[in-house]
Parts: sequence; structure tokens; C-alpha cells
Amino acid sequence: MIPAARHGQSPTDGPSLTIAATRRRDVHAIRKIDEAVYPKAWSLELWRRELQMSIRERRYLAAFDGAVLVGHAGMMVLDGDGHIATVAVDPRRQGEGIASHLMIELMHDARRRQLGGVTLEVRVSNERAQALYERFGFSPSGVRPGYYGDDPGERIAEDAVVMWASDVGEPAWLERLAAIEAALPGGRHVEPTAVTLARPPGFRRR
Ligand SMILES: CC(C)(COP(=O)(O)OP(=O)(O)OC[C@H]1O[C@@H](n2cnc3c(N)ncnc32)[C@H](O)[C@@H]1OP(=O)(O)O)[C@@H](O)C(=O)NCCC(=O)NCCS
Repeated sequence: MIPAARHGQSPTDGPSLTIAATRRRDVHAIRKIDEAVYPKAWSLELWRRELQMSIRERRYLAAFDGAVLVGHAGMMVLDGDGHIATVAVDPRRQGEGIASHLMIELMHDARRRQLGGVTLEVRVSNERAQALYERFGFSPSGVRPGYYGDDPGERIAEDAVVMWASDVGEPAWLERLAAIEAALPGGRHVEPTAVTLARPPGFRRR
């Protein structure tokens, strides 16, 4: 079980987040963010299918500031490796550490699952996201030419950088997470529902 974490900083130091397993009722807010930040948001149907997948195969997390969904992230588990499928933060809330809080939870999840490694694709032009992933120990391992070519509105078929973090079981990697945590503004409370999928009695998020 993920321990509930509060990091002793006041909300003025950064966001005071609640991180919970993504549920179907969150998809509308997620798609609003995704439509603002991605050329193509996942369809409702795709989200419906993804959220029906077993927790053994998928991990989708949503970050809330109060009742407002401010970011989300997700990881697929395929053949013993993690694949970061999405990380997105409300454009009005970027730069507050929200993606980092989400990534820390996903990466602890990867460690608990004893995954061999974690990979992702990111646009070659998306230097900010690449910097975020590098901070989490991901290194570029190759390029997928034209990976984003099918997205509507694409003027060019942009290449993807493939990144891997392959040492997620190592103590040094845990130290890296702790260092990111220590430097991160704000704090987060991780709902036990994120793991058990059971809601505490009387719990109402929205
Ligand atoms: C990439 C993305 C997810 C990052 O989200 P974010 O919440 O802004 O990320 P964080 O705040 O955790 O970290 C990003 C930066 O903010 C900085 N930061 C964190 N807290 C800060 C604060 N209180 N004040 C100023 N800067 C801060 C971090 O140091 C980091 O700096 P960098 O840009 O130099 O790397 C976000 O920009 C986004 O949604 N982009 C569009 C979708 C996307 O590209 N997703 C990735 C697809 S592969």
C-alpha cells in the first residue's frame, strides 16, 4: 500500500495535492486538460477501455487540488516493464511540481511491482518533458521516426525520443526519488483508494 504522504510544507510553498486512482468520472476533466496540451486527446472510448483494465496492467493517477483535477499520469505494464502512457498538467498549473508529484508515485509503483525498467516516448521538440524525465533517471535510447505522424493537425510527422529508466530496482534510484521529493514544492496526500480501489466510508471527492 502506498503510504499517505504529507510533506510538511504549507500550501503557499506549492500545491497541496490529493492523488487518487483515476475513475471514469474524472475523464471529462482529463480530456479538457489533454485537449489543451496534446494535439490529440484520447477518446472517451479509449479511456473507458483503459480504466477497465486490471490494476496489474495499468496504473492511472489523477492529481486534485481540492475538488479540481489539475493533472494526471498513467503507466501501462507490458511484459514486466512499465510504459508511461501519459503525463499532463493543466496549462494554468504547470511549473508547480504537479507532474513531478505524479511521476514520483508512478515510479514508486514501478519499484513495488519490481518492473525491469520503465520506458516512454516523447516528442523530440518537447524539451521540458524530456528534462522532467531525465530528472527521474530516464535516458534517451533511440528515436522512432515519424511516431506522431498520424495525429490530426500534425504539420510534420514528428519523431519520438524513446527514453528508458532501467535501474528502477536499484538503491541509487530510490535515492534519486528521495532527492526529487526533498526539492519539490508542495505536498501530496495519496488516497489508499489508489491501490485498493475501495473507497473509505463516506468519502466524496466531487
Ligand atoms: C511536461 C509537463 C507534464 C510538466 O508538468 P509540470 O507540472 O509543469 O512539471 P513540474 O512542475 O513537475 O516540473 C516542470 C518544471 O517546473 C519546475 N518547477 C516545479 N515547481 C516549480 C515552482 N514552484 N516554481 C517554478 N518552477 C517550478 C521544475 O523545476 C521543472 O523545471 P524545468 O521546466 O526546468 O524542468 C507539462 O508541461 C505538460 O502537461 N505538458 C503538456 C503535455 C506533455 O507534453 N506531456 C508529456 C508527454 S511525453
